Amino acid sequence: MAEHDDKIKVIIADDVAETREILEKALYFEKDIVVVGKAANGREAVQLCKQHQPDVVLMDINMPELDGIGATEAIMAQVPGTQVIIMSVQSEQEYLRRAMLAGAREYLIKPPDTDELVRSIRHVYKLRASAPRLAGSPAETAAQRSDQGKIVAVFSPKGGSGCTVVAANMAVALKQITNKRVALVDGNLVFGDVGVVMNIVANKTIIDLASRVNDLDAQLIGDVTVPHASQVRVLLAPPDSQSGEAITPDQLRTVLDSLRNQFDYIVVDTQTAYDDRTLTILDVADRIVVLMTLELPAIKNVKQFCELAGPLGYNDDKLMLVLNKADSRLGIRAESIESQIRHKVSAQIGNAAYEMTLSLNQGVPLVIDRRNHPVARDIMALAALTANALNPGQAEAAVGAAASAAPTAASETNKGLFGRLLTKR
Ligand SMILES: Nc1ncnc2c1ncn2[C@@H]1O[C@H](COP(=O)(O)OP(=O)(O)OP(=O)(O)O)[C@@H](O)[C@H]1O
Ligand SMILES: [Mg+2]
Repeated sequence: MAEHDDKIKVIIADDVAETREILEKALYFEKDIVVVGKAANGREAVQLCKQHQPDVVLMDINMPELDGIGATEAIMAQVPGTQVIIMSVQSEQEYLRRAMLAGAREYLIKPPDTDELVRSIRHVYKLRASAPRLAGSPAETAAQRSDQGKIVAVFSPKGGSGCTVVAANMAVALKQITNKRVALVDGNLVFGDVGVVMNIVANKTIIDLASRVNDLDAQLIGDVTVPHASQVRVLLAPPDSQSGEAITPDQLRTVLDSLRNQFDYIVVDTQTAYDDRTLTILDVADRIVVLMTLELPAIKNVKQFCELAGPLGYNDDKLMLVLNKADSRLGIRAESIESQIRHKVSAQIGNAAYEMTLSLNQGVPLVIDRRNHPVARDIMALAALTANALNPGQAEAAVGAAASAAPTAASETNKGLFGRLLTKR
């Protein structure tokens, strides 16, 4: 295989011989891609992967002997470094979800056009270079999840990086992929705009929970969180900035912790600030999705945040660095970002200014009505990666939570960033 070392090695797995031929022909003229094997069922696909260690597998979902989901799980466990692109027909949405949870990085609706096929292969190949995968099968997920929901904060140390849009889309994607109970919380207490992005108008907000921290039971939380058509429940920000300012970090912590009893995933949008309330959200989070755009001021601020993370008690695994509005034309590669910031890039979300603005103005997240858009897929992949990272590693998550809980006891929550850092030295 030495002659293929500089190419993206692909295995095609589909039980229909004609489909295998069509896909192989479609890739034939791509100079950077080589098909190293073809499998007619999942079992053969796993065997060929062990033999050839391909970079990418194009995996049909419905196959005899071992289906695409089972084969994806086996490859995740046995052939580290191989990325799976799952292929299915439109009607197999439920399978698609399970495949993403099993560790597939992308999905294609059959029959994919050649451009889309090639783009997806190159895309997941790039992800392979930068993001070690954390796989977990749906079975593991069910068996290993604790009763406590997981908090995912979406944060950026540079405003306008896309936190609100990504948080909203991620919450819906988590619901679509896992079908678990998902909440979306507007943690931008002063200028929150999650309601606008989700097109929700309601008079119940986080104030109704923060003011009753001793009564936070299922019923109250059910009353105050607003149901969205996606089946995500949304906890809105206060209607005016004064009420937002009145919520204390301790109240916020109690509210977020109580949501863990009612939801499996709690996605929290945050504001760009190092104030005590934002730090409280970051403290309680099991994962912080740190968004960065490819602009020097954003890169500088993210580097600074990554340097602060250690002193703040956030271990490396807690941070998931994500490039948003990524565009290869900008000439900055994920690898050079990684060496500059000294943190791995977990995922990338493409740039789609027009579609994002349209979806913002319509109040419908991209993953709902443009699921097949590359940016929607990037966000689906990020949601799957996050779910996989949080669910199989219960022990790991517990360690992370313990580490991050330490500096945030009630007495420490009101000192601001510099107070916190000074106390730690
Ligand atoms: N992947 C993307 N591609 C193109 N545009 C994007 C993308 N993600 C976000 N945007 C755009 O970036 C702008 C800022 O997005 P958003 O409001 O979500 O960012 P934010 O980090 O929440 O900002 P703020 O600091 O104001 O809270 C919006 O116009 C949005 O449409
Ligand atoms: Mg925002």
